[in-house]
Amino acid sequence: MDDSLNIKEHWNTAYNKDDDQLGWFESNPDKTMGLIAKTNLAKNTLILNVGAGTTTLIESLLYAGFTNIIANDLSDVALQRLKVRIKKSDNYDLKCVADDLTNPKELNQLKNVDLWIDRAVLHFFLKDEDQETYFNLIHKIIAKNGYVLIAVFAENGGKKCSGLPLQLYSVEKLQDKLGRNFKLIESFNYTFINPSGGERPYIYTLFQKNNESVVVY
Ligand SMILES: C[S@@+](CC[C@H](N)C(=O)[O-])C[C@H]1O[C@@H](n2cnc3c(N)ncnc32)[C@H](O)[C@@H]1O
Repeated sequence: MDDSLNIKEHWNTAYNKDDDQLGWFESNPDKTMGLIAKTNLAKNTLILNVGAGTTTLIESLLYAGFTNIIANDLSDVALQRLKVRIKKSDNYDLKCVADDLTNPKELNQLKNVDLWIDRAVLHFFLKDEDQETYFNLIHKIIAKNGYVLIAVFAENGGKKCSGLPLQLYSVEKLQDKLGRNFKLIESFNYTFINPSGGERPYIYTLFQKNNESVVVY
């Protein structure tokens, strides 16, 4: 069977559980919101939350006044749950894009995304070509002066999440992957305590895309 189908099935099955049984679920995404506050982006700015799952970040973004949000995930089960919940809580029609970050079709069509948000997704991509596809997508669809917020397991983080092996990251590794077109604005380490009380060390980073094109010698 196709690898991507297996992975999709893995995540759809994971989302058969309630949110408080998901090892990565956070009821208050304040670390992410704190970084977003540093951007001073307009409220109608285009925000793309990749691998959103059933995150509470969408409610927090709406509460902060943001009006133009797209949620992506590989799992249509997660996106459906998220969409229904947001409609019920905030009467907001969340745009959802079910697409694979390692083989994007619909995401590729997006343009001028002002803010890319990834919490706990990139670290699942172990193959070089999958990581390359992920970063190429960022390069392609992020607007000039746009921001990239990535929060992933730090180098002292766990070896697995949701039963899957992980690639761990440092700020330097993320900077290296993004390239010189992206400038680090802020980063910090944060140990997330998951719903079962386990410690999960993350690295939070905010980068901004440079205006000028970089000359490579
Ligand atoms: C650990 S969860 C994090 C969910 C959410 N970001 C949060 O903070 O609650 C990882 C998410 O990435 C999604 N995912 C995994 N592989 C993906 C891929 N190739 N493309 C898009 N989403 C993917 C999963 O379905 C899952 O929702």
